[in-house]
Amino acid sequence: MDRIRIRGGNRLNGEIPISGAKNAALPLMAASLLTDQKLTLLNAPWLADVGFMGELLRSFGVETSYSRGPAHGEGGRWELTARHITNTTAEYELVRKMRASFLMLGPLLARHGQAKVSLPGGCAIGARPVDLHLKAMQVLGAEIVLEEGYVIAQAPSGLKGASIEFPFVSVGATENALMAAALANGETTLVNAAREPEIMDLGHCLMAMGAQIRGLGTSTIVIDGVDRLRGTVHAVLPDRIETGTYAMAAAICGGDIELTHTSIELIGALVPLLEGTGTTVTTTGLGVAASRNGERLKSIDVQTEPYPGFPTDLQAQFMALMTTAEGISHIKETIFENRFMHVPELSRMGADIQVQGDTATVRGVEKLTGAPVMATDLRASVSLVLAGLAAEGETVISRVYHLDRGFECLEEKLSAVGAQIERLTE
Ligand code: UD1
Repeated sequence: MDRIRIRGGNRLNGEIPISGAKNAALPLMAASLLTDQKLTLLNAPWLADVGFMGELLRSFGVETSYSRGPAHGEGGRWELTARHITNTTAEYELVRKMRASFLMLGPLLARHGQAKVSLPGGCAIGARPVDLHLKAMQVLGAEIVLEEGYVIAQAPSGLKGASIEFPFVSVGATENALMAAALANGETTLVNAAREPEIMDLGHCLMAMGAQIRGLGTSTIVIDGVDRLRGTVHAVLPDRIETGTYAMAAAICGGDIELTHTSIELIGALVPLLEGTGTTVTTTGLGVAASRNGERLKSIDVQTEPYPGFPTDLQAQFMALMTTAEGISHIKETIFENRFMHVPELSRMGADIQVQGDTATVRGVEKLTGAPVMATDLRASVSLVLAGLAAEGETVISRVYHLDRGFECLEEKLSAVGAQIERLTE
């Protein structure tokens, strides 16, 4: 199994191109099931999760082709044509690898009137049920039974528009409902919908395919169902989690990094926090620049929230940053339980962190020291990379397949700005 070796202590200087967002690409790929015409996605990242999604789509009879961009991390092109759906079962073997496979449920039901989807796997960050997805499909008229680990959903006479009120914000359930409602009969209102930029990106692509949608980016989305959707060409939104992670790499290591093909608006909740730590973040002609020169980082408190609040997917990285900051930081995780699995690993590197319930208290230390550590989930693993970049000595991270799920060309991108990082393959 591959490992990543980092020799820490280098300042980082230069440019990092930001890839298309994994969390936008996955629902966009699922949306290809809604039409018999070709959906072309540009700026598509090449990641393990995106590869699984392609495999899953092919298992339904979708014709897929992916071509990489001209250079590392420059964005690829998916062509997805669901001319005939030949199978509506999403097998456990594929779904267990990635929770986003559950996004097949809405499109399959809407287009084909039936779907059998295994209950999902994905990162081991808490219980992560799918009850909101199922409730939304039921409100749209689907009949649902659970049998031997599978969700069997049927809507033989089609889905019907309705009002779906989410008890709390769910990104995936909003996406599933949005896609299903696009082809439902009549008007659907999503109340307490997620407002993440990836939802807007999906909505814009669906609109280009002919869907009638109002209120994207607000918590009430109204969809007028149409009979058919058509193909289109859509460029995937830049990855805000990758943007935020590399901005934090500049903060923890010191130096100046320009992040290109992205925008500061995507990391709106992170910018004031980084500024509070003593890091400068500015807009440039090509994207965002992050720099820290001289002074030690300062501690600051943070709490995760649905967008536009601070994203849970940046929590582990922010904690890595706080391990070497001056003072005490309280980090509260409100979205997922059990999302502090990086804490014992950061502690192995000399961090001083106490967890009580949903809050971690981080007392900044002068220096981290390199150590062998283990990646436990996607975002946790990149927090260990950040810690390793700042630590004295060598850090070897095992189980890096977690990283490959979500960070395109990580070693190449970080080496190009002066980090000593390499992949050890066995
Ligand atoms: C998406 C992102 C993930 C991110 C998360 C929160 C993708 C592919 N993944 O995951 O990277 O960390 O949003 O920003 O876009 N919940 C239920 N029942 C449900 C659905 C969710 O209880 O039916 C709970 C979850 O356990 C969690 C909370 O709702 O506590 C939010 O989860 P949700 O927004 O649905 O996350 P995902 O869509 O799975």
